[in-house]
Amino acid sequence: MIQDRERIYFTRFIVDDLTGLFSHSYFQQILPQEMKRAKADLSPLSLAFLNLDNFSSYNLGYGYFQGDYLLRSVSDTIRQNIRKSDIACRYKGDEFAVIFPRTSSQQALSVVNQIRFFLFQGVDAPWPIQEKQPITLSGGIASFPDDATSADELIAKAQRALSLVKIRGKNQCYLFAESSNLLQDRQATILIVDDMKCNILSIEEALAPLNFFPLRAYDGMQALSIVKRQRPDLILMDIMMPNLNGYEVCRRLKEDDKTRLIPIILITSLNTLQDKIMGIEVGADDYLLKPFEKEELIARVKSLLRVKYLNDHLERQENVIFSLASAIEAKDKYTLGHTERVTNYALLLGNRIGLDEAALNALKIGGLLHDIGKIGIPESILNKPGPLAPSERTVIQKHPEIGFNICLPLKERLGDALLVIRHHHEKLDGTGYPDGLQGKSIPLVARIMAIADIYDALTTDRSYRTRLTREDALRIMKDEAERGALDQELVRQFEDVIG
Ligand SMILES: [Fe+2]
Ligand SMILES: [Fe+2]
Repeated sequence: MIQDRERIYFTRFIVDDLTGLFSHSYFQQILPQEMKRAKADLSPLSLAFLNLDNFSSYNLGYGYFQGDYLLRSVSDTIRQNIRKSDIACRYKGDEFAVIFPRTSSQQALSVVNQIRFFLFQGVDAPWPIQEKQPITLSGGIASFPDDATSADELIAKAQRALSLVKIRGKNQCYLFAESSNLLQDRQATILIVDDMKCNILSIEEALAPLNFFPLRAYDGMQALSIVKRQRPDLILMDIMMPNLNGYEVCRRLKEDDKTRLIPIILITSLNTLQDKIMGIEVGADDYLLKPFEKEELIARVKSLLRVKYLNDHLERQENVIFSLASAIEAKDKYTLGHTERVTNYALLLGNRIGLDEAALNALKIGGLLHDIGKIGIPESILNKPGPLAPSERTVIQKHPEIGFNICLPLKERLGDALLVIRHHHEKLDGTGYPDGLQGKSIPLVARIMAIADIYDALTTDRSYRTRLTREDALRIMKDEAERGALDQELVRQFEDVIG
C-alpha cells in the first residue's frame, strides 16, 4: 500500500505544486480507503485539520511570495514530524489535513503539538514577525471509531473542532470529543525561560497536572523573540541569564502594550529584599523562590491564568463592541465620520477645561461608542428623508439606553464612558432622554458630549437641511444654552476653542 502510494505521489494530480504535500483531490480519495481499512482492522484512525492563524493579513502585509514561502516552511515542519504511514495534505489555501492511520486522538494531538512546538520554537524562523496578529497554528482532531464512522462525518467533526478553536481564541488544538464541552479548560501556552535545561524540565514536570502547551527559551533575547511570535498565556522566568537578564525581559514586555497583559512569574534563588523590590519595579506579577513547592507553583500559575483569560475575554468583547460601533456609521448614511468628529470636539473641550486623564479617556471611548445603540434602530427610520413622526422619534430616542445595555458587560473597562453613552441626549432643563436628568445631575462628560454631538449635527448635511456655518451653529447653541437646555459655561468655552 505504502509503495503504491509512493508510486503515485509524483504524479501532478495527487501532489500539491506549492508545498509538495498530497493534494486535496488525493485526500478525498485516500480518506475513504483508509477508513475502510481501519474498519476492517478495527484500528483507530485520526484526522487533524491544521490552519494558520492570521495568514490572510500576513499575505496582505508581506505579499504572496512571502506567504508561499511560509506555507512551504509549515509543510516541511509537518512532514518532518509525522511518521511515514501518516498522510499529510494541503487541504485548501492555508489549511492542512493529516490522516493518522492506527492512531488514537490523544496520540494525534501529541504529534500536532510537536508540529506547533517546532514551528514556532526556533528563534531564526525564516519569516518576518507580524507583531499585532502573530502567525500561529490552530488545529482540530476527530477520530474513528469514537467520534465518527464515515469519512464525511470524520471531516465534519474535525472541522467543527477547528472552528471552535478559531472562535475561542486560536492557537490551540482541540479534540472533537472535548471541544463540545464548553466548560473545557483552555489549553494554556506557557513559556519557560531558563539558561539551564534541567531547570526547564523540572518546571515542566511540576506543571504536568495542568493542560498546557510548553515553549522554551534559554536566554532573554530568545524569550523576547518567542513572545513576539507566539503570544504565551504565561511566562515563568529565571532572573540570572546570559545576554538579557530576567528583570530586563520583564521590563520590556511590561512596557509594550501588546505584551503587558501576559503574566510573568520570576523564579529565582536571589533572596534579598532588594531583589524582590527590583522584581516588583519591573512589573513582575509574582515572584517564586527556588527550590519551589510543586503545589505552590501550580496554585500561582492557575490563579494568574484565570486573570489572563478574563482579560482575553474582555478584549474579545471589546473588539466586538468597537466593530459594532463602526458598523453603525455604515448603517446611518447621514453620520459618516460622525463619531470621530464628535470625539475630537469633545476632547478639545475636555482639554480646554482641564479634565484629568480618566475623564478624557471616558470622552474618547464614549465618543466612539455614544451612538452604538442605533444598531437596534430600523434603517428605515435612521435614513428617513424629512421629519420623523412622533412614534418614530420615540423609537430613535431609545438608542442611548440600547447602547448602554450593549456596553454594560464591559463596565469595568469602560467606566464613565458608559455615562456618556446613556446621557448624551439629556438636557439641563430636564427635557432630554432617557432619564430626564436636570442640571448638574447630568454627568459632566455627558454634558460635554452633548455639545460636541449637537455641533457636529448642525454643521453637517442632514436629510432635511444642508449644513450650517460655524457661526450659525454656535448661535443656535448659545440660544439653547440661554433657554436652559445646554450648559452655558461649556458652550462659551467650546466657542473659544473652536473659534
Ligand atoms: Fe446620539
Ligand atoms: Fe451622535
